[in-house]
Amino acid sequence: MRINKYIADAGICSRRKADELISNGNVKINGLTVKELGVDVAEGDVVEVNGSVIEAGRRKVYVAVNKPAGVITSMDDDRERETVADIVADIPERLFPVGRLDYNTTGLLIMTNDGQLTYTLTHPKHEVYKTYVAKVEGVLSGARAAKLRRGVDIGGFVTSPARVKVLKQMPRYAVVEISIREGKNRQVRKMFAAVGNKVRELKRTQIGEIRLGRLKEGHYRKLTREEIEYLKSL
Ligand code: URA
Repeated sequence: MRINKYIADAGICSRRKADELISNGNVKINGLTVKELGVDVAEGDVVEVNGSVIEAGRRKVYVAVNKPAGVITSMDDDRERETVADIVADIPERLFPVGRLDYNTTGLLIMTNDGQLTYTLTHPKHEVYKTYVAKVEGVLSGARAAKLRRGVDIGGFVTSPARVKVLKQMPRYAVVEISIREGKNRQVRKMFAAVGNKVRELKRTQIGEIRLGRLKEGHYRKLTREEIEYLKSL
């Protein structure tokens, strides 16, 4: 395995960053500093980064983040905006978001360095119900709720059955819980738009059995062993 991949798999940093560490002389294989990029690590080799021995793929980290509005679901942003990476910055492993939430959507996002799990969870075959609470303009009538449940056309794509519950109806707005299995771009916003209700606020509260609970915006918590096992069983 390439040395930069080995370092990235150990959750130390990205491959690109690993190349920098190597060029700067911060990496040793079997006690000898390597400065060339593209060197391979063989079974049994001892790799050190900044003097500490690392092991590829050893520690897997799984966290639930409560993403605030105005934060990007990506690991870096060329416009220097806040990203979810900033929320988990004190975790040494490099974590990646599982799926994404829009810039203005808040709530539950799972982040991990377990590439296999990320792949499984985002694969359409395994899509679990994701639950959102939406504050929408106007009245969400019974007929509109029924349409959302059956499926609506969001521009060349008809959504599959959804679970919809009106939690509160006020004269000018409604608070609606909606669960969907797919993850098309801006899907919930487009679904409400398709029945004539503009989404004002959107928060994800649940992914399968994983709940946001009382986690505060901008904070994270480690998933429990039961939660990790549940995700792996999907
Ligand atoms: N649906 C949306 O419209 N936005 C999200 O962030 C997630 C689902």
